[in-house]
Formats: sequence, C-alpha cells, structure tokens
Amino acid sequence: MHSLQDLAGQISSRLHTETFGRPLHTYDRVTSTNDIARDLADQGAAEGTAVLALEQTAGRGRLGRRWVSPRGGLYLSIVLRPEMPVDQWALLGIAVAVGAAEAAEAIAGPPITLKWPNDLLWENKKVGGVLIEAQTAFAVVGIGINAAVPSSLLHPESASLGVELIPLVCNVLQQSEQFVRKVQHHPSQVLTAWRSRSATLGRPVRIAGSEEMTGIAEDIDPHGALLLRTPNGLRRVLAGDVSLR
Ligand code: BTN
Repeated sequence: MHSLQDLAGQISSRLHTETFGRPLHTYDRVTSTNDIARDLADQGAAEGTAVLALEQTAGRGRLGRRWVSPRGGLYLSIVLRPEMPVDQWALLGIAVAVGAAEAAEAIAGPPITLKWPNDLLWENKKVGGVLIEAQTAFAVVGIGINAAVPSSLLHPESASLGVELIPLVCNVLQQSEQFVRKVQHHPSQVLTAWRSRSATLGRPVRIAGSEEMTGIAEDIDPHGALLLRTPNGLRRVLAGDVSLR
C-alpha cells in the first residue's frame, strides 16, 4: 500500500500531460471526488486540476445511482473550463470515456468497448463509467474504473480489470487530455474513436429514462446524443440508460 504522498509523487513523476493532473490532489477517503473537485473549481482551480481518492463513501454514478467505491478502484475527477457552448459539453464526457477506454485497454490488454454514452465494458461487463457534472463556469468530469476491486464487492454485472492504479491513473489523465483537446477543433475525431469502440451501435436496444423506448441504435450525433431508429422514426436521445437486447 502506498502512502498518499508517495502515490502523488509517483504519478507526478510519470505524467506527461499539459494540464490534466496539474495539480493532482490525493486523498485516502472522500465522499465523492466530484465534490472535492467542484469545491476546488468554485475557489478558482484551473482546468486540469484533478482529485484522486483511494476510496469514496458516497460515490455517485449517472442517473442518480450509487457508485460502489471500495479500495482498489480508480476514483478520479478533473476540473474542465470549456470554451464552447454548454450544449456541446456532453461531448466532453464522451471524449473522456474514449480516453479512459484507450488507457484501460493499453494497461489491461483485452478490448474495452463503450456503451452509450460513456460506460466502459470488458467482455460485456461494466468496468468503468464517466459522470460529467456541469456548473455555469466549469464542469467536473468524474471517472470510475474497477482497477483491482474484489469481485465480491461488485454488482454481478460488473467486473474488475486486475491492474495497478498508478499506471492506470497516468494513462487515463494523458489519454483524456488528448481527447478533450480534440473536442473543440476536431470533434469528428472524438466521434470516430467512440464509434469504433461502440458496443451499442447497430444493436437493438431499450432505453430507460423519462420515457421508455426501443429501437436500433443508429449513430451518435455531434452533440453526443444517441440516434435511435424506432418504429415511429428516428429519435434523438439525450439521457437514459441503455440495455442491449
Ligand atoms: C456511471 O457509470 O454511472 C458513472 C460513474 C462515475 C463514477 C466516478 S468515480 C469518481 C467520480 N466521483 C463520483 O462520485 N463519481 C465519479
């Protein structure tokens, strides 16, 4: 087990990012790294400021869900100060998911796919997710990856990669920075990378949300919305939970 200072030092010494993880605040246990990052951003923290914790007591996922956060997982939040209209911010979550998938695959080996909008899957089991929480002047993007979490502590439909935390954190920061940078000037590259990892496109799916819908997941649009081919035509889905049928 690393001391926190040791952990922060080892990550910083291996990091080649421009802004992501600079600075990196490390904690043993927090409610949610997104809460700490939001407080730092409220106090003026710059783009890229990151928060890493070994454990979360109130980790949260999309759609108001709990994110199980025992020791052994990666719990990382990054402050973003996007210079683009707020209706394009959802694409930042997509970009971070692509970056996290590239990073996890490089370390773990087997292919990591993405389920819309930003779930990381490994052999069809969930190994990670991304939660983007927007305020007026900034957004906090939170990344959770089951790096080395005992399977007894996970939901049956989740899995753990069995990888070390430090290289994974460095890679996630690096790859996420690359893809977030592309969002403003080369968004099509982010969409292409997402499509090539997609576990959703071309498949019959059910979307649970404010309204339940079924159809074929046809594409993702430039704002990150899912385009669903239903018996009543093409629907644009902005939020919801996808199950593959
Ligand atoms: C999801 O798939 O529903 C998104 C999960 C996001 C979890 C991460 S862990 C770090 C950050 N802090 C949180 O409370 N949530 C995100």
